[in-house]
Amino acid sequence: MMQQLKETAGFLKQETGFEPEVGIVLGSGLGALADEIEVSHRLSYKDVPNFESSTVEGHSGNLIFGKLGGKNVMAMQGRFHYYEGYPLEKVTFPIRVMSLMGVHTLFVSNAAGGLNKAFEVGDLMIIRDHINKFPGNPLIGPNLDELGPRFPEMSQTYCPELISKAKKIASDNKIKFQTGVYIGSSGPTLETPAEYKMFRILGADSTGMSTVPEVIVARHAGMKCFGISVITNLAEPVDGPTSHEEVQKQGAAASAKMTLLFKELIRQM
Ligand code: HPA
Repeated sequence: MMQQLKETAGFLKQETGFEPEVGIVLGSGLGALADEIEVSHRLSYKDVPNFESSTVEGHSGNLIFGKLGGKNVMAMQGRFHYYEGYPLEKVTFPIRVMSLMGVHTLFVSNAAGGLNKAFEVGDLMIIRDHINKFPGNPLIGPNLDELGPRFPEMSQTYCPELISKAKKIASDNKIKFQTGVYIGSSGPTLETPAEYKMFRILGADSTGMSTVPEVIVARHAGMKCFGISVITNLAEPVDGPTSHEEVQKQGAAASAKMTLLFKELIRQM
C-alpha cells in the first residue's frame, strides 16, 4: 500500500510540479466549486496510476490542481464510494496521496439527508462531528506508521477554529447555516423511516454515504478537517420518497453558497 501511495504521489508531482496545501473533496452535484479554481492541471482519474474510476452518475472523476482563495489546492471532482464496491482503503486512497503531496487541511462536502427537524432542503450544515456507521474502518489492518499512529485520537475531528471562522463568513455573507453531526453509512439504499428515526435517536443531524472514511484517514495523517453537508432532502418528506435526481438538483442549487464559504475560508486560513 505504501509503495502504491508513493508511486501515485510521485507520478502526480512529476506530472504537475505542483505542491498543494489544501485538499478538497466535492460531493454529489457539488462539482461547481471546480469552476472557481484557477486550474493549472486537470487529470482524469483513469489516467492516474492506482486510482479507481468513479462510476456514479453526476460525478465526473477529475483531479484538479490550481489556485483557490490564493492557496494551492488539489480537488477531487467526484469521489469513490463504498457502495460502488470499492473497499474502504480504495475509497480513501486519494486522501493519503494528498497527505504525501503535502496537503495539511482537507475540505469535504457531501449531499445529505436532513434528520434534524429544524432543517430545510438547501440548507448548508457545518459538520461538527460524525458517527461511523460503515461496516468497517479504513484503518483496519497493519498500521502505516509513516502516515500516522495506530490509535488516532478523534476528539476534535472537525477543526474548531475552521468551524468558527466558517460561521463568521456565513453570517457576514448572509448565508443560512446549520451545525450538526453527520452519520455515514454504506448505502446504496436510502434509509427506511425506521432507520431515519434510529439515526436521529443516535444524535445525528444529517445522513449520507461518504465523508466518514475520508475524514478518518485524513485525521490519521494529522490533517485538519472541515466538512459541509448540503441538505438535499428531508428524512421524512411529506411529498413522497427521495430520488437520486432530486439529490442532484438540490445539490447543484446549494453549490454556490458552499463555493463561497469554502473559497473564503481557504483565503482566511
Ligand atoms: N440518505 C442517505 N444518503 C443521502 C441522502 C439520504 O437521505 N440524501 C443524500 N444522500
